[in-house]
Amino acid sequence: MRWLVCFLLPIVRLYLVGFKVLLYQLFNRSFALPVLPRQNGRVAIVTGGARGMGFETSRHLASLGMHVVIAGNEEDEGLAAVKKIQEETDQGKAEFMYLDLASLKSVRQFVQRFKAKGLPLHVLINNAGVMLVPERKTEDGFELHFGLNYLGHFLLTNLLLDTLRKSGQSGQCSRIINVSSATHYGGRLDLSDLQGGSCYCAHGAYSQSKLALVLFTYHLQERLWARADPVTANAVDPGMVDTALYENLSSPAKLAKKPVARLLFRTPAEGASTAIYAAAASEVEGAGGLYLYNGRKTESSVISYDEQLQARLWMKSCALVGLQKA
Ligand SMILES: NC(=O)c1ccc[n+]([C@@H]2O[C@H](COP(=O)([O-])OP(=O)(O)OC[C@H]3O[C@@H](n4cnc5c(N)ncnc54)[C@H](OP(=O)(O)O)[C@@H]3O)[C@@H](O)[C@H]2O)c1
Ligand SMILES: *[C@@H]1O[C@H](CO)[C@@H](O)[C@H](O)[C@H]1NC(C)=O
Ligand SMILES: *[C@@H]1O[C@H](CO)[C@@H](O)[C@H](O)[C@H]1NC(C)=O
Ligand SMILES: *[C@@H]1O[C@H](CO)[C@@H](O)[C@H](O)[C@H]1NC(C)=O
Repeated sequence: MRWLVCFLLPIVRLYLVGFKVLLYQLFNRSFALPVLPRQNGRVAIVTGGARGMGFETSRHLASLGMHVVIAGNEEDEGLAAVKKIQEETDQGKAEFMYLDLASLKSVRQFVQRFKAKGLPLHVLINNAGVMLVPERKTEDGFELHFGLNYLGHFLLTNLLLDTLRKSGQSGQCSRIINVSSATHYGGRLDLSDLQGGSCYCAHGAYSQSKLALVLFTYHLQERLWARADPVTANAVDPGMVDTALYENLSSPAKLAKKPVARLLFRTPAEGASTAIYAAAASEVEGAGGLYLYNGRKTESSVISYDEQLQARLWMKSCALVGLQKA
């Protein structure tokens, strides 16, 4: 019975959600970006911006004239991505900065180095993520999906909030975008067992980390609005996209995925389009607390709207990363 709840249910839920997404993608084309306003003089940070959707997002924002900071934990890959973007763009700018989201120390150091540059910050895209990693811990001892996909971004966002506030103004808010996933629909969140200590399942851990991101987005937006800050926060769902994210699927699942991916998965550029839209489209100006899928506002899971759970997760997260609850 315990085995069923711990391992089988999360897997079944994840695959059911995946199946629904594929059905949607079978019958619906990927959303086409509208013409976006130029972004000259604006600065963005994209976590995991060196490859996959993060790279496509960075590249597109730079082509609009933005200064994009690619934050990643593989220097060679990051520098190659920067080079490629620099070759393509004339007005935009790209640079790489080292950030390991699986280390709270690295997050703090990254923010220090970024602030030392004296740049403003208009867009923060929390895109980096891992999926289905065999049970592993971050440097600080957190379960990897929870620690990297969620907590690392939690600390990063909170430490950058003052810069985002200063850089926004009414009519041109700074924007925070969290890349979540449809898997959050199958996610469960147990505040007393966030690390999967009692029973670890990689499928459940991934779904939970993506649910936590949505809960956070909503709560953060409430806080920002309460202070009338010129900053908005939205979550985006890219759909199922053919990237290296699937490298840790089991071998039979990988085999089955191959033909399906060729037919039905989105390309990284298509997958990135909703995040790009949330970052740069005039249609989204001033809008916050949304869950965007295929360029449209969509309902996220019922649990994600639970305000009590949002607030409790926030308090707990502050304690885990050592932030004042203010
Ligand atoms: N692909 C899909 O179907 C799908 C569906 C829903 C949601 N998503 C979400 O979309 C986002 C982008 O994923 P993707 O599909 O583009 O996958 P990807 O190609 O695997 O990209 C993941 C990115 O995360 C970065 N990353 C991993 N560990 C990191 C760490 N410790 N510190 C900093 N960065 C780290 C990687 O950077 P390095 O190379 O520098 O390690 C990489 O750039 C993820 O949040 C994912 O959960 C994807
Ligand atoms: C296609 O998109 C429309 C509009 O978002 C949605 O109502 C419909 O359910 C989608 N089709 C499938 C098969 O999911
Ligand atoms: C796959 O698992 C390895 C650890 O076994 C991890 O380092 C890597 O980041 C994982 N890949 C993804 C895309 O999650
Ligand atoms: C994004 O998620 C982080 C947690 O990973 C959270 O701290 C932050 O409030 C969220 N921001 C937005 C805009 O969703």
